[in-house]
Amino acid sequence: MIHRTRIKDIFSAPTSQSYTVMGWVRTFRNNQFIALNDGSTISNLQVVIDMESIDQATLKRITTGAAISAHGTLIQSQGKGQSVELSCETLEILGDCDAEVYPLQPKRHSLEFLREIAHLRPRTNTFSAVFRVRHALAYGIHKFFNDRGFVYWHSPIITGSDAEGAGEMFQVTTLNLLNPPKAEDGSINFKKDFFGKSTNLTVSGQLEGELAALGLGQIYTFGPTFRAENSNTSRHLAEFWMIEPEVAFFDLEDNMNLAEDMLKYLINYVSENCKEDLAFLEQRLIEEEKQKPQNERSEMPLLEKLKFCIEQPFERLTYTEAIEILKNSTPNKKGKFQYTIDAWGADLQSEHERYLVEKHFNKPVILTNYPKEIKAFYMKMDDDGKTVRAMDVLFPGIGEIIGGSQREERYGHLMKRMEEMHIPVEEMDWFLDTRRFGSVPHAGFGLGFERLVQFVTGMSNIRDVIPFPRFPGNAEF
Ligand code: 4AD
Ligand code: MG
Repeated sequence: MIHRTRIKDIFSAPTSQSYTVMGWVRTFRNNQFIALNDGSTISNLQVVIDMESIDQATLKRITTGAAISAHGTLIQSQGKGQSVELSCETLEILGDCDAEVYPLQPKRHSLEFLREIAHLRPRTNTFSAVFRVRHALAYGIHKFFNDRGFVYWHSPIITGSDAEGAGEMFQVTTLNLLNPPKAEDGSINFKKDFFGKSTNLTVSGQLEGELAALGLGQIYTFGPTFRAENSNTSRHLAEFWMIEPEVAFFDLEDNMNLAEDMLKYLINYVSENCKEDLAFLEQRLIEEEKQKPQNERSEMPLLEKLKFCIEQPFERLTYTEAIEILKNSTPNKKGKFQYTIDAWGADLQSEHERYLVEKHFNKPVILTNYPKEIKAFYMKMDDDGKTVRAMDVLFPGIGEIIGGSQREERYGHLMKRMEEMHIPVEEMDWFLDTRRFGSVPHAGFGLGFERLVQFVTGMSNIRDVIPFPRFPGNAEF
């Protein structure tokens, strides 16, 4: 086995010593200078070849995309742009790459084009940076909760319930769709299906998370969730990852504090641990925004925006207060919103959320106490009987990044809401047991992982922050 040094490590390794590096050729200039990348860092290592000592056949095989192994001495670099370089003594081609057909040329490709070749995206600067940041955020999430004594809980992926009651589930079945078994009334007989009942992919791990919190005290989930909603936007995926903490003895204010602490911790964590990648992504964003009209460009460079969000308290206000602000806002009066806000009860669209965050308050906002009609069945009713203890955290450029609530822990109240909202009570008896036996106040929320990655990396489309995006009409790879 050859001892390989990762390129990230070589930049801080002692010079005048021998190393072997392996990676993919990004560019090859003047038959002499290879820019080599192995994915460990955004920076390429310059590998310098002595044309005399390398045979012509091998030289021809050093093309963009080829995988090589290079052995040589690390020296202070003569040229500009890098501190050290590897003076190559032996070079081996590990995998050829025909430059004529390799889709990734050493030039800027559009994100749309790269999405079509998502299997090669990890080879690019932008996507390797995004996926390293995505990893760091995932690690930071586990660290945040572990350090605070939360238990990582695995809610099931295949379930028989609809946690949000919104009917946006992907069905899971092994029945023959051409000729499914029928019950006497002509309906499909799911008793004959694999699980003996109708099942679907989970839309949220919350309900099973609540079961855990009412025993383990404080838990979080971090897993894939699936929604068959026909949303073709830059913020929706059909398969996305969600982090759902759930805490016994928590009220809405505790819940808001946890959400704010967590977001600030995570943004700070990547700011500290992904400096090079974020600097690269900031520069990328500046370049991308040069193509946009002045008024659509962001006001702050990426790193400054991240800092700005963690340095001040998030604005907290009720839905009712927000409606007043929106009703009297200039874009509302001038008919600039696609959906005009004219009365209390209106559901907020992303244009309204972004107005509050980006124009009115100019910082992250937590909206609470929404009308019960526009929120899920499990939220605790306020004393006015009109609003529920919901909270949405709204972020600049993103809109809703977190949705959560204090839960309705009173058996009678919960039953009433479930009946009113046509939630199949018989199938959810297990959930109601928590309210029958030792029920306590509790609260939790769901953070959309890809929306967080989007915010931190400054990528404008959610399809560019998950390796293989699933959206209506697309499940490639
Ligand atoms: O607001 P949502 O629907 O809330 C829940 O699912 C609750 N069960 C959470 C809880 O209280 N435990 O979703 C939570 C978050 C949203 O704020 C958003 O960030 C993200 O999940 N999200 C999506 N992200 C990408 N694509 C989609 N289609 C999303 N739908 C929701
Ligand atoms: Mg929501």
